[in-house]
Amino acid sequence: MKIQYYGHSCYAVELLNKRILFDPFIAGNPLAKDVDIQDVKADYILISHGHGDHIGDAELIAKNNNAPVIGAYEVVSWLENKGLSGFHMNIGGKRKFDFGTVKMVNAIHSSILPDGNYGANPAGFLVYGDEFSFYFAGDTALTMDMQLIPMIAPKLDFAFLPIGDNFTMGYEDALLASDFIKCDTIIACHYDTFPVIEIDHQKVTNAFLGRNKRIILPKVNELFSV
Ligand code: NI
Ligand code: MN
Repeated sequence: MKIQYYGHSCYAVELLNKRILFDPFIAGNPLAKDVDIQDVKADYILISHGHGDHIGDAELIAKNNNAPVIGAYEVVSWLENKGLSGFHMNIGGKRKFDFGTVKMVNAIHSSILPDGNYGANPAGFLVYGDEFSFYFAGDTALTMDMQLIPMIAPKLDFAFLPIGDNFTMGYEDALLASDFIKCDTIIACHYDTFPVIEIDHQKVTNAFLGRNKRIILPKVNELFSV
């Protein structure tokens, strides 16, 4: 499966010829200055919660690509007021799309929209089809709810987990999360963007290797396969 990293928690995943973009935040990210935002392609945009570092460029990219947004009811409604279209969901619900099934799951975090409007409860996404299954955790702490994931989704091929600490879980908790979700291939999110979430790449890599797991720390703009 082809994946492209646009910095912070923004990833594009290619599924059945559709390009699914998660949590677009590019213009405000100094580490993503080499990404040409006008060039970012998406067929769908999934938003985990209302914070600016996850929704900041949703409007522009959705309009450029005529792409619907998928997320919590209040987040999608807020984007609809800006002229976008979308699919309103909420935690615990699943819905079938032409690229696969999306199920929204719990995240432990906070959420408010950039203009102060209510940003709904923060969420993660399970995305699966006949040939693939993955988890995009969004911004979250380690939570026992992650133990439900192997019971409610097909076996995960990989998972996007935040590892930067301070605002979300750090890599030690992400390592435990990988046990909870029974997944040994982790793609890192929410690290290095700000000084307070800078990580030691070698230390993080070694911590996962020491448990026979793999953590992928892509460079911004990097295209890779899992
Ligand atoms: Ni957040
Ligand atoms: Mn965030």
